[in-house]
Amino acid sequence: MNLSRRKVLAGLAGLGVVGVVGGGVRYWLGRPAQVTTHDYELIAAPLDVELVPGKPTRCWSYGGVVPGLELRVRQGDRLRVRFINQLPEPTTIHWHGIRLPIDMDGVPYVSQLPVRPGEHFDYDFLVPDAGTFWYHPHTASGEQLGRGLVGPLIVEEREGSGFRHECTLSLKSWHIDQDGTFTDFSVPREAARGGTPGTLATVNGRRLPVIEVPAGQVVRLRLLNLDNTWTYRLNLAGGEVRTYALDGNPIRPRDFEGEYLFGPGMRIDLALKVPAAGEEVQLRNGPLRLATLRSVPSSEAPGDWPAPLPANPVPEPDLASAETLRFNFEWAGAVSADFASGVHSFWQINGQAWDINDKTCADRPIATLQRSRSYIFELRNLSQYQHPIHLHGMSFKVLSSNRQKIAEPWFTDTYLLGRNETARVALVADNPGVWMFHCHVIDHMETGLMAAIEVL
Ligand code: C2O
Ligand code: CU
Ligand code: CU
Repeated sequence: MNLSRRKVLAGLAGLGVVGVVGGGVRYWLGRPAQVTTHDYELIAAPLDVELVPGKPTRCWSYGGVVPGLELRVRQGDRLRVRFINQLPEPTTIHWHGIRLPIDMDGVPYVSQLPVRPGEHFDYDFLVPDAGTFWYHPHTASGEQLGRGLVGPLIVEEREGSGFRHECTLSLKSWHIDQDGTFTDFSVPREAARGGTPGTLATVNGRRLPVIEVPAGQVVRLRLLNLDNTWTYRLNLAGGEVRTYALDGNPIRPRDFEGEYLFGPGMRIDLALKVPAAGEEVQLRNGPLRLATLRSVPSSEAPGDWPAPLPANPVPEPDLASAETLRFNFEWAGAVSADFASGVHSFWQINGQAWDINDKTCADRPIATLQRSRSYIFELRNLSQYQHPIHLHGMSFKVLSSNRQKIAEPWFTDTYLLGRNETARVALVADNPGVWMFHCHVIDHMETGLMAAIEVL
């Protein structure tokens, strides 16, 4: 296998359908007879980007673009990425939401050693679930994600999804001033509150982009929140919209109405029925425009809503036998005594703060789960700020909340826990390893709000 070629050996187009389709249930079961490998070479390197016109910003890029190169693979296939670090500091890649073996999870000193400048690392794993995922470092996250090391990872359905058109929309704000110079990625005063917000909102690395969509067609919009801090109050003005998947996992399609609270790390797949040519749909954060989708003439026959997406093969937790574990997320207040290192500890899970400079934290897991048993996690937010709670290695099912009605439980890897909310989620501990469990507001995660959960 020649890894020096830039992109995929086996493209996605023209592959035969190998998935198992049975009894009307569109469900992919197990490993396909024929596993195709998708090979990428991915370089992380500095890149000057004009986020502010005429004022280049020194970003860090994956594959020469910010946000990073969109990687695509098909469900059940194998993804191999030769990752080459041409940055001035060590880094890793974590594959957010992908259920993979621990040694491919990209967490320094747990999964692998950091990849030093000039070194490379080969990531290689099978991709069990279809959906919208992403990748990012798990080292010096505030700065590394802040400089642009965030990229979409699209896993196509094993069978056709029914969507003929799609468009990836990566949301990220930047911590820069009017000259395009980076400002602080983390300010202690902000880290102790909602996190340090970026100042310039972009979609696909551009401010207020206009994106053309075909009139009369149904377009799958894959939205990703790749932000360090912002929870978007996502809404669309103009055009009929339905929700098809949350955080990579299909739901029964329903109308998208009002605002969706879209926290860091989360994804949502929407279907947009594009209005007549010349009309516009606005993608907004509350009242603020993020992007414009402009309808352009299309010669295709009008599209209709596709069927629901096939469920992913996530194991169903057995609630009757499940043990309940409680996790409290709280504000710890005190600035740590460790002023010399500049590390602050503002947040705790069950009274324990993660120290990003202590390589041994993962040796003291906050919980130990027995393999293949079911668990219910009771997540309690004892603070005034919301926390997108994320687990590596396994997907969990959202069961109930004291703040919102959960009519239909769904599988996810990230749950936005509102202020003072208590939610119950469940999972089957089917993936052995030491898995990070953290808030995806990067400032929170780096000032204590992270823990390790071990599956034996
Ligand atoms: Cu996006 Cu530790 O994860
Ligand atoms: Cu993750
Ligand atoms: Cu948080």
